Amino acid sequence: MEGRILEKQPVIEMRGVTKRFVDVIANDKVDLKLFPKEVVALLGENGAGKTTLMNVLFGYYNLDGGEMLINGESVTFSSPKDAINHGIAMIHQHFTLVQTQTVLENVMIGMEGSFFLNYKKAKDKLLAIEKEFGFQLDPDAIVWTLSIGEQQKLEILKALYRGAKILIMDEPTAVLAPTETIELFDTLRNLVKSGHSIIFISHHLQEVMDICDRVVVLRNGRRVAEATVSETTIPELASLMVGRELLERLDKGKSKTGDAVLEAKDLKVKNNRGITAVDGLSFVLREGEVLGVAGVSGNGQTELSEMLFGEIKPEEGEIFIYGKKIPGGSPAAVIAEGMARIPEDRIKTGLFMDLSVKENMILESHIKEPISKKGLINMKEIRIFADNCINSFSVKTDGMDIPVKSLSGGNLQKVILARELVGNPKLVVACQPTRGLDVGAMEYVHQAMLDQKVSGSGVLLISDDLDEIFLLSDRVIVMYEGKIMGEMSAEEADRDKIGLWMSGVIS
Ligand SMILES: Nc1ncnc2c1ncn2[C@@H]1O[C@H](COP(=O)(O)OP(=O)(O)O)[C@@H](O)[C@H]1O
Ligand SMILES: [Mg+2]
Repeated sequence: MEGRILEKQPVIEMRGVTKRFVDVIANDKVDLKLFPKEVVALLGENGAGKTTLMNVLFGYYNLDGGEMLINGESVTFSSPKDAINHGIAMIHQHFTLVQTQTVLENVMIGMEGSFFLNYKKAKDKLLAIEKEFGFQLDPDAIVWTLSIGEQQKLEILKALYRGAKILIMDEPTAVLAPTETIELFDTLRNLVKSGHSIIFISHHLQEVMDICDRVVVLRNGRRVAEATVSETTIPELASLMVGRELLERLDKGKSKTGDAVLEAKDLKVKNNRGITAVDGLSFVLREGEVLGVAGVSGNGQTELSEMLFGEIKPEEGEIFIYGKKIPGGSPAAVIAEGMARIPEDRIKTGLFMDLSVKENMILESHIKEPISKKGLINMKEIRIFADNCINSFSVKTDGMDIPVKSLSGGNLQKVILARELVGNPKLVVACQPTRGLDVGAMEYVHQAMLDQKVSGSGVLLISDDLDEIFLLSDRVIVMYEGKIMGEMSAEEADRDKIGLWMSGVIS
């Protein structure tokens, strides 16, 4: 009717959705609407209930309360098949592709009809979809030859092939390199233009600002806030998410720089594909400072940290801790000199996922007193040690005896911090220490590193998150293609200049 604004019909409406697990209410009367051609961000700390809510929407879980409507009609899903039939697709963080089959074969898996008869038709249809949305994936390429970004594209293609109009993306950018994220966002914009709607889960507030129209915030299973992206700011979103004002500017704390703790001289190493990854790199880290190593990931940071951790041997160059030359390629040697190591990949190199919390905590101190005396392990001391770690680092766990794999990402990182920092080491080397963590856990890690510095330790922070670098560092060096492009102090720090260095431009 004229003069009357008709509210658009949401494509999805979740009303008072509740989902309980044995000991936790993962979703507590959550309302969520998704309108046509809209990108809605689902924001919340680890454990807030985002994945569960999407699993309910995708028919993995039955609801314990509430209802769901698709285009205004009440629906009940008993499996993902029902959701797919209603045009919903979920792109998981861990892909569900068959690695040994081709792109086209993966698209056709589970589709009805005889494979050979429909092969040509299917290929034409796939190519038409690729053309429409600007994908460039060879239908005959074998999946394992594809990059992660391409595999994700294939997951999206699979969804489109099945006629999905609603895409649920659970942390899609967590596995992507920055350039791949830009490509993904181009794809999402194309999808929206052609009438699709998207639910986007991410911890990265900047990404939410870049790609989303509206944000719904979950905390402890409840929907606590909603915001229109054009009317909000990153600090506002961050505080909605954690429920308190974020430390906008951390107090970096003061400390006097002292002796050189760690020195790298002309380090050189090739990566596992035989290409020079670190190319004549030198720096000195002193007591009482955080030295930030900035750079776009893939410029040798991983190899640098692996050399420092003793995991790979430099082909050339030397590493010194307090002036003492360290034999390359020996983790035991750097641990013996007191280096605390906070690795990039906590699951692969930081923790033994099947061992208990307490066993992971004593990994590096089990041969030292008081836990081990004259070769005998003292169980009581282990419990005292682990208890101290759990309390000092606020690790959320149902005790020290459960397998560490049952902890959330933020708490896994706290287990590593506890293990590495509890003895107040003089040297800390951290590589991407907050990758994949929510804002609350991130803040915790940042504070722990600053505390370490203020107490007089030297901290080397390797990170591709420039905000993190600026937040914590007293001095910044920038890595590009295995070399250091330049150095500046925190006082003279200039984002534009660092950005240029990160792209290989000397200014
Ligand atoms: N299958 C499950 N069984 C028991 N508890 C679960 C299960 N899945 C999730 N949870 C719990 O539900 C809560 C919400 O988890 P989740 O939806 O994964 O959060 P998010 O995706 O926001 O990190 C957490 O406390 C988590 O431990
Ligand atoms: Mg999740």
